[in-house]
Amino acid sequence: METNAARPIGVLDSGVGGLSILREMRAQLPAEDLIYVADQAHVPYGPRTIDEVRAFTVAIARALIERGAKLIVVACNTASAAALWPLREMFPDMPFVGMEPAVKPAARDTRSGVIGVIATEATFQGELFASVVGRFAQGVQVETRACPDFVRLAEVGETDGPAARDAIRRCLSPLVTAGIDQLVLGCTHFPFLKAAIQGEIGPGVTIVDPSPAVARQAGRVLDERGLRTPHRETGRVTYLTTGDPAAFRAVLGVLLGADESAGADVRGLRWRGDRLDSHTEKETHP
Ligand code: DGL
Repeated sequence: METNAARPIGVLDSGVGGLSILREMRAQLPAEDLIYVADQAHVPYGPRTIDEVRAFTVAIARALIERGAKLIVVACNTASAAALWPLREMFPDMPFVGMEPAVKPAARDTRSGVIGVIATEATFQGELFASVVGRFAQGVQVETRACPDFVRLAEVGETDGPAARDAIRRCLSPLVTAGIDQLVLGCTHFPFLKAAIQGEIGPGVTIVDPSPAVARQAGRVLDERGLRTPHRETGRVTYLTTGDPAAFRAVLGVLLGADESAGADVRGLRWRGDRLDSHTEKETHP
């Protein structure tokens, strides 16, 4: 019988954004088995209501628990804003690691006194964002922008090029004009556009990408609960998408590299009403 520690970690997002967290987890926790769920039937989450995003997130968490998850990383700021507190109440025995915009380090390090936060509409509407700003950004000017185009671009693997540069300029120029010197990536899709963003906003603005810290937090939670895998070999990753597995695999190759996508185990997962199937569809081959 499998011990708790030998079980996989669940990672979820509306689409490919959470792969920015998964990439860090693979680097920091290489022996862990991971199950990644991309809810591409519903991406983007950003323009949806908090109630709708919460319902999707709870159903995905349930599906991960059914598949034996020992820890769930909500690798999506929008899903965390909508559902992290309710998830902890609904599943008190399951540890959850969630995301909140990294306002704290940005507010600490700013010299201009103006920081920028980019995230989705829903993230800005949630109580979590207001609480983070209230706790950590006293005396600092916080400029916010929702950048839905960045989500759309990451979903198709277009992380640089004329369309990406144009979207970045349109979204970020008001922040640059406002004098920000720190830019918080408050959506997990955005780290994939980081090089293009830095290219457009220039070297004077520091980009705050929380993904390494989230992976470290996942490691700490495993240690606290004695849940580090006993296995030594490299862990297996299973990718489940509620969208098109072939399209997911193609974008995986662009975002994480050909090595990660070549032999990847990518499967389809179907919504049945407001629940996810308890079984996954047969593996697709490239
Ligand atoms: N990756 C997500 C986030 O961190 C959601 C993007 C979306 O689906 O709109 O907020």
